[in-house]
Order: sequence, then structure tokens, then C-alpha cells
Amino acid sequence: MKTIIRITGVLSLSLALVLLYAACGKAAPPSGKTLFHKKCGLCHSLDMALSKQKTAEEWRITVMRMKNEKRAPVSEKEVTAIVEYLASSERRAK
Ligand code: HEC
Repeated sequence: MKTIIRITGVLSLSLALVLLYAACGKAAPPSGKTLFHKKCGLCHSLDMALSKQKTAEEWRITVMRMKNEKRAPVSEKEVTAIVEYLASSERRAK
């Protein structure tokens, strides 16, 4: 009997953790800034991009070039988020 209780306890705890993990994953998609910091510093410094001033259209071309030519691991959605961040005044203020 004790074993059954213990197994049930372990199972429900794992289930709770899985649910919590799923909820966190869905709750907040990473922001353009987070994605930029995570994915754009893999091959060169982030300054490589931060030192440049480009329009949103130019950033899209650059980020797509990083994706297609250099194989940067970003999805279409992430490209949009990163472009929005790079072209934003939030970033230019720094
Ligand atoms: C897989 C490696 C790799 C990743 C990941 C990567 N880059 Fe690059 N990037 C390069 C290389 C190599 C160069 C220099 C050669 C060139 O410009 O073709 C470069 C050059 C650049 C330049 C300078 C040239 C230009 O067109 O203005 C910018 C800006 C840039 N990267 C931005 C980014 C951004 C933004 C990301 C994130 C989406 C990113 N990179 C991710 C490899 C990468």
C-alpha cells in the first residue's frame, strides 16, 4: 500500500512539473531582444549588429541573410521579432 501511495505521489509530482513547464513555455514567447541576445551572438559579437544603423527593411534583409547564408538558427517568426527589436527606438536609445 505504501508503495502505491509513493508511486502516485511521484507521478502526480512529475505531472505537475510537466504542466508547469508547458505553461511557462506557452505563456511568454521570447522577445526580439531576448532572441537577438540568444541567437545573434553565436558567430560574432552582438556589437557587429548593434553598431549598425539600418531601417527595418534593411534589417530584414540582413537577418534573412544570416538565416539563409550563415544558417543562423532562427525561425520566420523569430526573424520578425528580431527585426522589430533592431529597428526599434528602444534599441537606438542605447
Ligand atoms: C551562423 C553564424 C552567424 C549567426 C548565427 C549570425 N551571424 Fe551575422 N554574420 C555572420 C558572419 C560570418 C558575418 C560576416 C560576413 C558577412 O557579412 O557576410 C556576419 C555579419 C553580420 C553583420 C554585418 C554585415 C551586415 O550585413 O551589416 C550584421 C549586422 C550581422 N551579422 C547581424 C546578425 C544578426 C542580427 C544575427 C541574428 C539574427 C546574426 N548576425 C547571426 C555569421 C552569423
